[in-house]
Amino acid sequence: MKAFMPTGDFERAVILRDVPEPDPAPDCAVVEVEAYSVNRGETFQLEKPATGWRPGKDVAGTVIRSAADGSGPEVGARVVAHPPAAGWAERVAVQTSQLAKLPEGVDPIVAAALPLAGLSALRLLRAAGQLAGRRVLMTGASGGVGHYFTELAAAGGAEVTAVTASPERGARLEELGADHIVHDVADAEGPFDVVLESVGGDSLQQALCKLRPRGTLIWFGQASRSAPTIDFFRFWEGPTSGTIRHFDYTDSDVPDGRDLATLVSYVSKGRLHPEIGLVANWLETPDVLNTLRTRGVRGNAVLTRTGV
Ligand SMILES: NC(=O)c1ccc[n+]([C@@H]2O[C@H](COP(=O)([O-])OP(=O)(O)OC[C@H]3O[C@@H](n4cnc5c(N)ncnc54)[C@H](OP(=O)(O)O)[C@@H]3O)[C@@H](O)[C@H]2O)c1
Repeated sequence: MKAFMPTGDFERAVILRDVPEPDPAPDCAVVEVEAYSVNRGETFQLEKPATGWRPGKDVAGTVIRSAADGSGPEVGARVVAHPPAAGWAERVAVQTSQLAKLPEGVDPIVAAALPLAGLSALRLLRAAGQLAGRRVLMTGASGGVGHYFTELAAAGGAEVTAVTASPERGARLEELGADHIVHDVADAEGPFDVVLESVGGDSLQQALCKLRPRGTLIWFGQASRSAPTIDFFRFWEGPTSGTIRHFDYTDSDVPDGRDLATLVSYVSKGRLHPEIGLVANWLETPDVLNTLRTRGVRGNAVLTRTGV
């Protein structure tokens, strides 16, 4: 079968090659991939690919072989899945605990945009705690995680301020419930109960200064690739005290499959609207990765093997 392999080359990070068919463990189903999405974190991994690793964590498709241990969906079921790797391919083996059946009417292209960004947003909500009536600041909000988090947090009663590069990058966030869109962290009007920071560089320190006393900054990424510096004495430009909390979406007491089922049910009930800024044929994956890297995607980018 065909699958994308890493090249280690920055400009053309993946190449389509022939690889062996998946060899599923007993608790794994084999999924015929219809669509997948690509994530910023994967672009980072592609810069220094581990030996034998193939990219691909977010897929939607059809089960063509059910798990030998009897767990999970039957052959023919349409699913969304979050394998740890190897999903940018014709077929992939996925543990049945990392997939969920698609409700009637949920398109695989839409479902493929959900796993990593959606799971992260859902778990960021849990990490943030009760948000009704709370003021939330989110940097790097125009990406995949930002759109999901904003819609869910706003629906939960939070007052969300989103930081995006331009009005165009913030337009959909406003429709999804963001109360304020700013294009520079410095312009965000605090104080905020919770700050979600994923840009890095000076963004973290600036956002930290917007926190209310004893508020929480959840640090979950570094999209700019620039490490933040924190000046203890600048802290007093903001709160007298606060918590900086590291976040990793894989640290979850809820299995991926259950959270994926929640996300697709939200989509099916019209409570979550994936923002898919780019859909392309899977053969265009190398170009789409470059577009994502250079901030050319609003929300998620999805590659399809069947359409476009
Ligand atoms: N800790 C975890 O478990 C976890 C889980 C998922 C994602 N992440 C990380 O969280 C961040 C957001 O994830 P995502 O999937 O939403 O990423 P994404 O879709 O690429 O969105 C990142 C956003 O950051 C903004 N940004 C600001 N400065 C940037 C710069 N110099 N370079 C690139 N982007 C910049 C961009 O918005 P504008 O162009 O509008 O400024 C972009 O839309 C990423 O860094 C990702 O690696 C962490």
